[in-house]
Amino acid sequence: MTIFSVHSTIFSRASVVLLSSNGLKRFSFASSFSSTAVYSPRLPKMKKQRRYPIVSAVDIGGVTVARNDVVKDDDPTNNVPDSIFSKIGMQLHRRNKHPIGILKNAIYSYFDSNYAEKFEKFEDLSPIVTTKQNFDDVLVPADHVSRSLNDTYYVDPQTVLRCHTSAHQAELLRKGHSRFLVTGDVYRRDSIDSTHYPVFHQMEGFCVFSPEDWNESGMDPTLYAAEDLKKCLEGLARHLFGSVEMRWVNTYFPFTNPSFELEIYFKEDWLEVLGCGVTEQVILKQSGLEDKVAWAFGLGLERLAMVLFDIPDIRLFWSSDERFTTQFGKGELGVKFKPYSKYPPCYKDISFWISDAFTENNFCEVVRGIAGDLAEEVKLIDKFTNKKGMTSHCYRIVFRSMERSLTDEEVNDLQSKVRVEVEKKLNVELR
Ligand code: DAH
Repeated sequence: MTIFSVHSTIFSRASVVLLSSNGLKRFSFASSFSSTAVYSPRLPKMKKQRRYPIVSAVDIGGVTVARNDVVKDDDPTNNVPDSIFSKIGMQLHRRNKHPIGILKNAIYSYFDSNYAEKFEKFEDLSPIVTTKQNFDDVLVPADHVSRSLNDTYYVDPQTVLRCHTSAHQAELLRKGHSRFLVTGDVYRRDSIDSTHYPVFHQMEGFCVFSPEDWNESGMDPTLYAAEDLKKCLEGLARHLFGSVEMRWVNTYFPFTNPSFELEIYFKEDWLEVLGCGVTEQVILKQSGLEDKVAWAFGLGLERLAMVLFDIPDIRLFWSSDERFTTQFGKGELGVKFKPYSKYPPCYKDISFWISDAFTENNFCEVVRGIAGDLAEEVKLIDKFTNKKGMTSHCYRIVFRSMERSLTDEEVNDLQSKVRVEVEKKLNVELR
C-alpha cells in the first residue's frame, strides 16, 4: 500500500508524477520555490463535465453559496468543475462517526487535556478565500507554482478554493485569536491514484507566546517556540500512534523559519506526518504582534487516517456505502477497516501527441469529470519524442468501483467519452 505520497503538505515540495513499472513515483525538488515556477493564468479552460448531477447551491456552516457564484462557465480564469463544487460544504471533518471526524476529535482531546489554556477551534470557515488569504498573507512568493491554474482551483483571479488551512492564520490573528486549531476541506488540482483526491482535509495549529512566557526560561524566543512546538507535536504523535520512533527533518516553508517536518517510523518506512515551524515575524507584525513569537503546524487528516484506520484508497472517505460508513464509531480511533469487496479493475490506455500547454492535472480533471470516483488511477506508461519534435504520452486509466462490478459497456463508454473530451479540451491529437 502506497501511503507515503498522500497529501500532507505542499509548500515544502512540488511533486511530479513519472512513470515507473511498479507504480507512481513522486520526485521532490529540494525547493519548490525555484525560479522555474511560472504563474500561467492562461492554461486551457476545463469545460464543465455533466456526469455529476448539477448541485445548484451548497451550505457552508449555515451560509448558502450558489453554484453560479463558484462555477463560472464564461470566465476564462474559473477552473472549478461541478464535481468539485458539489464537495464544498460536505464537511467530512464534522461527522463524528467518520474516520476524518474521529481523528479530528482525537486531536482535539489531546490539546484539551494537555493545555490548561484552551485552543479555540474553527471548523466551518468558508473554503472560498481570497488569493491574499491563501497566498499573500502567508508570504507565498508571487511566482510560486502553487499559484498556477494548474495547481489551484480559481473562482476568479482574486478568489480561490483554499489549498491549505494556513489561509486563515493571518485573519484569525488580526481578529485577536492567539491559540487556535483550524480544520477544513482544502482543494488542489492533482493526479489520480489511491492517495490523491482533489479535496482533502487539513488541520492547522497556531500558538502565540508573549515575552513573559520565554523570559523566565532565559531562552532565545525563537528557540523557545521551536522547542515547545516539537514537544507538543511529539506528544500528539504518541497520542495517535502509541510509542513510535520519530524524527525531525529541516525543511522550508514561506511562512515559518525555522521549518520542520515530523516523520514517524511506520510499517518499515518513514512517513511524513506534518509540516510546522516558528512563524515568520512579518506575519505577526502584520497583525500588530511584533513583540510576540508563535509556532504553527499543518497536518493532512487523510494521510493520518489512512494509516490509523488501514484505509487503502482515499476515495473511500467519500463513500456513502453502508459497508464503509458503519465500520466506524464515535471516539473509536484506530478501528481497522475491513475491505468488503475487491471488484475487478478495468484498464484502458490512451495515447496522444501533447501540445505545449498540456498538463497532467488538466488530463486528470477531464478523466475525473467523466468517470468521477470510478477513476482509480491515471498512470503515464509511455512517453517519447519523435524526430519532428512531437511528444507522445500514453496513459493507462484504471477504472474500478469500490461498490460494484463495472460492465464492459460502461467502461468502454467512459473511455470513449474521455477520448472525445481530451481531444476537444486539451488540444491534443489522439494516436
Ligand atoms: N500549509 C502547509 C501545506 O499545506 C502546511 C504547513 C506547514 C502549515 C508549516 C503550517 C506550517 O502552519 O507552519 O503544505
